[in-house]
Amino acid sequence: MNKVNKSKTGNPNITDAKGNGMPRHIAIIMDGNGRWATKRFLPRVAGHAKGVKTVRKIVEACVSRGIAYLTLFAFSSENWRRPAEEVSVLMQLFRIVLEGEVKKMHANNIRLKVVGDLSKFDADLQAMVQAAEAKTAANTGLTLTVCANYGGQWDIVQACNRVLANAQYSGTITEQLLAEELALAYAPEPDLLVRTGGEARISNFLLWQMAYSEFYFTDTFWPDFGKEALDAAIASYQNRERRFGGISAR
Ligand code: IPE
Ligand code: IPE
Ligand code: MG
Repeated sequence: MNKVNKSKTGNPNITDAKGNGMPRHIAIIMDGNGRWATKRFLPRVAGHAKGVKTVRKIVEACVSRGIAYLTLFAFSSENWRRPAEEVSVLMQLFRIVLEGEVKKMHANNIRLKVVGDLSKFDADLQAMVQAAEAKTAANTGLTLTVCANYGGQWDIVQACNRVLANAQYSGTITEQLLAEELALAYAPEPDLLVRTGGEARISNFLLWQMAYSEFYFTDTFWPDFGKEALDAAIASYQNRERRFGGISAR
């Protein structure tokens, strides 16, 4: 796995002055679909269907803004606790998106990755994921990662197990060895985490990778989130001072 350049300053004691450029990697917890629908006296799944439209808009916006990595939390390892009908509609939406959007993604030079414990998905869905990843693997534009049956704790444990299973493993786990086996080892760590829907928690998303991410929480429900809202999140990020444990340059 390639080592990823973490964009910290050369001087270990002093960080860059306040002000960041565009985030290289944006991660989003797309929350609030159910409440968006309930507020309108619609079934929760209507919120998920509307949420898919937001995904299209935000992917487009990231492409046009030159964002390198966008990572979307679509289904958590805990979301199986939902009613079976809701889970089944979510799986169906996933199928529809894979069937209908991969061609467009490919045309837009998007590389699609789906990460999580996919072994729990139906075989046909797993096959569709593999085909979509293979088709777009050589694309050089936006890397779009969809986290499905993903949990940050699962990720850390599976990475440990992969380190242990390596024949060259010498008996001590290091941060670097572990990081190289995480599901998103191909991406730099997220610069910006956005969570829509008003909750201020991580819900077992990218635990290891968000050690130094900037967090942005908004009350806007995911179906109402749009390009302007994304720009507001990016503007907030650009105004933060990232210190990475160092001291201020001022
Ligand atoms: C997020 O919206 C989508 C998924 C978790 C799949 P929710 O379905 O969690 O919506 P709320 O939080 O209940 O409003
Ligand atoms: C987090 O949202 C997971 C996804 C957006 C896929 P949840 O709605 O599942 O999170 P909790 O249950 O409110 O923490
Ligand atoms: Mg929710």
